[in-house]
This record gives sequence, structure tokens and C-alpha cells, in this order.
Amino acid sequence: MSTGSILQANDASAIVNTVKQVMHPLFDQTYLLQYLIKIQALYACIPPAAIQTLHEKLALTEAQIKSVISFYSFLSIDYQGKYRILFSDNITDRMAGNQSLFHQLSEAIKGADASIDFTSCTGLCDQGPAMLVNGHAINRLDTQRINDIAQLVNNNESLTNWPDNLFKIEDNIRRGDIQLNARAGDGSGIKNAMNLGYQKTLQILQNSGLRGRGGAGFTTAKKWQLCKQSEAVQRYVVCNADEGEPGTFKDRVLFNSSAHSVIEGMTICAYVIGAQKGFIYLRGEYLYLLEHLNDVLQRRREAGLLGQKILGKLNFKFDIEVHLGAGAYICGEESALIESLEGKRGMPRIRPPFPVTEGYKNQPTVVNNVETFWSVSRILLKGSNWFNKLGTKESTGTRLLSISGDCERPGIYEYPFGVTLQKIVEDCGGIETQAVQMAGAAGNTVLARDFDHQVSFEDLSTGGSFILIGGNRNLLDMLTNFADFFKHESCGFCTPCRVGTSLIADTLHRFEKGQGCSGDLQHLKKVLKLMQKSSFCGLGSSAPTAFLNVLENSPDVFDCGMSVESAEIYFDLNAATAEYKKITEPGEKGI
Ligand SMILES: Cc1cc2nc3c(=O)[nH]c(=O)nc-3n(C[C@H](O)[C@H](O)[C@H](O)COP(=O)(O)O)c2cc1C
Ligand code: SF4
Repeated sequence: MSTGSILQANDASAIVNTVKQVMHPLFDQTYLLQYLIKIQALYACIPPAAIQTLHEKLALTEAQIKSVISFYSFLSIDYQGKYRILFSDNITDRMAGNQSLFHQLSEAIKGADASIDFTSCTGLCDQGPAMLVNGHAINRLDTQRINDIAQLVNNNESLTNWPDNLFKIEDNIRRGDIQLNARAGDGSGIKNAMNLGYQKTLQILQNSGLRGRGGAGFTTAKKWQLCKQSEAVQRYVVCNADEGEPGTFKDRVLFNSSAHSVIEGMTICAYVIGAQKGFIYLRGEYLYLLEHLNDVLQRRREAGLLGQKILGKLNFKFDIEVHLGAGAYICGEESALIESLEGKRGMPRIRPPFPVTEGYKNQPTVVNNVETFWSVSRILLKGSNWFNKLGTKESTGTRLLSISGDCERPGIYEYPFGVTLQKIVEDCGGIETQAVQMAGAAGNTVLARDFDHQVSFEDLSTGGSFILIGGNRNLLDMLTNFADFFKHESCGFCTPCRVGTSLIADTLHRFEKGQGCSGDLQHLKKVLKLMQKSSFCGLGSSAPTAFLNVLENSPDVFDCGMSVESAEIYFDLNAATAEYKKITEPGEKGI
């Protein structure tokens, strides 16, 4: 928990000293983002004197530092107030009424030393609507909670004195009788790997058929082997806990309930590839897990499971640091994540080379999802046969699903791959489900008539997000929410994605106002196909999926937003020239 008090940013020499303390003892460029996050928490902004000090001590230009600040939505040069309130704005938050609560709180804290805005999904979709106050998550918002929060803000109450129950986050594990039930993480998996040696350990992973759980489904053993084979001064292990895909929250739960297992998986990876250093890249929205993770890491060092001479083996040393993200979805993409770990803007790199050969500091790096490492710890305990008997031929093991939206029992569900959507919808108590949004905003929109499909890499793949859309919802609202999300999260580097995401959002907002036309839809389709083909990274190429699914399988969804069906492109001349008319027409404001 933060101290709750914000330092005054008007004494330059005090700022210089504070910033030096923040950097002490590293004074290392690659920690720039971590320094900035700490400075932002202390001052509710990055003051000019802080930028000047970072520039002098890190040999970076002020322009470089400012460009990093401007990239991350949780950092700002402008003062954000003693309380920075960010409402989560996923479609599930909207379904649960976040918009009216936002307006209620905005009105109630007018004049307070606070700022209030929306942010992308905060990973609390099973217990939304949610918000962050100075980075700390508060869930299950309702009018009563909003009144309480308004009172605390208006009374200028330090965040450390806010009632604990406001910050209580639940795991909501609803179905977990396979891997979630298998106890691991006490060092036995590392011991087994060390007894087997790295080649046999790789063989076990290969036999298990484990594929990455971060989305693309790359074979884990193959990834580790490629890294092991690459020329290196150092090798690195990175756990991707950016979990920014709207609707996904399984990694949050794994870290809260099974952090030892995830870290054990990372340590086994370090043993196999010969790494001495690892990172957990934790999304800034999960700040509340930071203390817990650092605690677990320390306990493992004390138990001889991390640090020097792991389990007494002289030449096996490995340690892990947690780095925080700062509100940028693109940093989940592995090469952007590595840039961010190096303290830079999280822009995707040109690939190849891939991180396995040139990753962190251009050294071979394994980047795996939290769930992937967690499964490794279990496979090394229970064997590859146990694992590959679960699931399907090409998708072995189980999948953790983060289930939210219109259902009676949202939360975490573990299923062997191959489970049908129908079974999942029944288990979680779907309410008149018309569609399921798989894999977050970038995934497929599957209509009820297709619920006999299976969750698997060979049929319908998901990074873990599973949002149910009830019969009384308008799919157009969901698409408009996704369009805003992508427009906000596009890093802007390549034209198809930067311009395409803006065009999608503009078009859908026209439909939202009832000003769309069929010409718009034809144009939209062209833009979406172009984005799929020519975007630089996975964000731009996967963003069109849901829009194309609905356009192709359920085009009537757009009917309610049409007004001039025959027109090529709807253009309201009066609306477009209203501002100019005000100036040029005679009258109070005219000339
Ligand atoms: C826009 C974008 C966001 C991503 N976000 C995540 C994420 O939050 N977590 C994750 O593990 N992988 C994410 N990925 C996939 C990663 O690039 C990478 O494939 C993954 O971390 C590899 O781990 P795995 O082999 O264990 O799946 C994202 C990819 C893209 C294009
Ligand atoms: S597709 Fe292009 S603009 Fe979009 S996030 Fe990737 S690099 Fe950035």
C-alpha cells in the first residue's frame, strides 16, 4: 500500500534528493520505467526537476525521458491530484453499470484534490465494476461504495486509512479439480529436473505436448531448446504477467494462489536454458500483488530455491525481479515487453530476430505466460503422461478460463482442452447467452448456434478470456467498446493499425448515434482486411477479428445504427459545419 500522502512538487532541491534516493543504488537506464513509476506515486506526476535529475544521472536526453512518460497511461507530466481514480472500462464493467457510477462519483467529488477518468480493463471482470485509486484496485462498485469513496476523498482521508474491505480481491476459483488441485512449488519439481538433467527435462516437456498459454500456442520445449542453443553471454527468463486482454484474469489468480508454482516453473526453465536472471513483468493494474510476490521470492531465497547454489548445486544460481508495467496493453506482446523491461517505450520490435535468440539486452530470452510456467511445475512432478492424456491430440493439458459477463457464477474454471462452449456456458450459468467473446477483444465472437465448437488450438483458441453476452445485449455496444480499446491501445507505430483503429472507432460511434449506412460497412470491411494483412504486430492483425465475425455472421446487428441505407458514406453537413456557423452567423457570438 502506498504511503497515502503526495509530496509537494515545488521544492526542486528536495525533488532532486528524492529522485536520487529512488535510483539508489542502481542508477541504471534500464530501470527508467521503474523509477518513473515510483516518482509518479510520490508526486502524482513527474515534475520537471525529476526529469532533469534522471537526465543527468542516466545519460538520457530529456526528450527520451519525456517520450517514455508519454507512452504509458499511468505516467504524466501534469499533476493528477492526491487521488487518481481510474474506472475500469471493459465491456463487462459497462454491463455492470460503470458509466452511471462514474458520473455519480465525478459529481460527488467536484472540487476535491482528485482526478477521475476511465482506463482499459483492470482484470477484475468477475467482480466488477472496478476502479483503481492511485493504482490500488477496488471491486464490486455500487452506489453505496461510491458514496463511501466520495466521503473518503472529500474528507481528504489518507489512502492508508481507507477501510481494508474496499481493497479485498477474491480468487473465485469455481472449477479446479485437475492442475489447480495438484500441489506443486515446494522445490520438488526443481529437484526432479536437476536429477534428470536438462536434456531429459526438455524431453519430458516435449512429450507432454505443452504449448504456450499466452495466445499463440508455441511449443514450450521447442522455445526453451532454441534459447539453449543460441550463442549467449547471458540468458534470461521472463514471465509475461501483463494480462491486458480484456476479460482475462487467470494470471492474477495464479499469482495470488500459486505464486510458488509459477516461480518454480521459471526456475526449471533457468536450469534448462542456463539463465541466472529472471523477470516477472507484472501489469501495473496488479500492483496489489507486488508485495505478495516479493514476499514469496524472499521466502524461496531463504529456502535455497532461488539465489546462489540452488538446492545446494554449486553452479546453479538464479534470481528473479518483479518489474511493473504502467498501463499499456501492447507491452503484453513479447518484444514490446522486452523494450519495456529495458526501460523504454513499449514498441514492438522487428521480428526476426525473435526473443529466443535476441531478447532482453539482445541476449537469448525465454518469454512465457504465467500459466505456462505454472503447468511446467506440475509436469515435472506428475510426468508427461499425466499431462498429455488430458485434452486433445494437439492441445494437451488443461486451460484456465476467466469467465465473466452475463452469467450467474463468474470466476476461474479449469477444463481439459476439447470442452465445448455449450458445456462451459451451462456450468457457469449463462443467462440467455446469445454469444461468447473468446480471447478478449482480439478474439472470436461465437454465436449461440456455434456452441458445439471446442476450446482448443485446433478449433477455438483463447488466451483465457471467456465473456458471455446475454440475449438482451446489443453486440454493437460490445464492438464499440472494443473499438475504443484498440484505438487507445494502438502504439501508433504503423499506419494500418494507427489509422485503422481510429477509423473503426469513428465508424462504430456513427452507428451508435444511428448515423451509419451500408457504405460504411463495406468501407469498414476493407479497412479490417487491410489491417489483418499489413499491420506490423499482433495487436493490429488480431484487432479486426470480432468486427469481421459479427459483420460476416450477424450483419443485422448493425441495422439499428443505420439511417441512410442507400448512401455511400453518411455525412451530416449541418453537424460538420455547426461550429463555423456559430462564428459566422450574426448573433450574440457571431461577428
Ligand atoms: C497485443 C498483444 C498482447 C499480448 N499480451 C499477452 C499477455 O498479456 N500475456 C501473455 O502471456 N502473452 C501475451 N501476448 C503473447 C506474447 O507475445 C507471447 O507470445 C507470449 O507471452 C509467449 O508465452 P507462451 O509461449 O507461454 O504463450 C500478447 C501478444 C500481443 C500481440
Ligand atoms: S500493429 Fe503497429 S501500431 Fe498497432 S500496436 Fe502493433 S506496431 Fe503498434
